[in-house]
Amino acid sequence: MTSAGTDDSGRVVVVAGATGFVGTHLVDGFAARGWSVVACARASQRFDAWLRRRPGVRRVTFDQLEEGPGAVARAVAGYDVRGSVAAIGGWDVGTGLLETSTDAFRAVLESHLTPHLVTARAVVPALDAAGGGVHVVLNGVAAQQAIAGAGGVCVTGAGLRMLTRVLREEDGYPSVRVRDLSLMAALAGDERNLDPVAELAPATVVAAVEDVLLAAEGDDWAVGGEHGPTARVVG
Ligand SMILES: NC(=O)c1ccc[n+]([C@@H]2O[C@H](COP(=O)([O-])OP(=O)(O)OC[C@H]3O[C@@H](n4cnc5c(N)ncnc54)[C@H](OP(=O)(O)O)[C@@H]3O)[C@@H](O)[C@H]2O)c1
Repeated sequence: MTSAGTDDSGRVVVVAGATGFVGTHLVDGFAARGWSVVACARASQRFDAWLRRRPGVRRVTFDQLEEGPGAVARAVAGYDVRGSVAAIGGWDVGTGLLETSTDAFRAVLESHLTPHLVTARAVVPALDAAGGGVHVVLNGVAAQQAIAGAGGVCVTGAGLRMLTRVLREEDGYPSVRVRDLSLMAALAGDERNLDPVAELAPATVVAAVEDVLLAAEGDDWAVGGEHGPTARVVG
């Protein structure tokens, strides 16, 4: 390995939402574990600056994901691709739902839910074309627990769980397994989590995603909280 994400003999993972708090830890963590990494994020000067600090990481923009599987398929061609992980969305706490404007609610749908469909629509066929793999959708405790003031994140988290289930049910690409991995605690070091009840080390999350990518079975997984280390969740 010559620099982050350039282990050409190793396994490849695609990280969508690469520039986010979790995504950045995933990119750097997988590179440190010897994986090659394809990073997907919205085209911006920030993304370009982020990439310059990670010279081996390959770039795919969300505009390219909107166009279909081509850019991801080209980025993983010739590699031992195992799968992809979507770390899109993030924490957002503020006003109650009844005080939330229509525009603000639409903005949360646009940032927390729609990009997951865009990602899956591009990545799942690309993985299939490359021989199959696992698409891991990251979610959080808000998908399962109603939290006052975090209605947008709760509603989109619950919707995202159902999105992954419907994708599994439709099973349009049987060589690709879609899995839900819920991070049931705040990520240590993310200062947006004020007064967290429990924390997860970023390295634990990287290991959990790797576990799920390499696991033979299981649809829903969780790490942290009462689940402790990566656990398959039934029901
Ligand atoms: N952070 C935590 O403590 C924590 C705890 C538990 C679970 N999680 C879960 O981990 C996942 C990622 O969270 P995070 O904290 O890393 O979020 P984050 O730091 O806010 O990053 C969000 C990512 O989503 C991207 N994004 C936002 N809107 C987008 C859009 N419209 N189109 C395309 N990309 C868009 C952002 O891209 P740009 O860079 O272009 O804005 C960024 O890469 C979420 O599912 C969350 O529920 C996080």
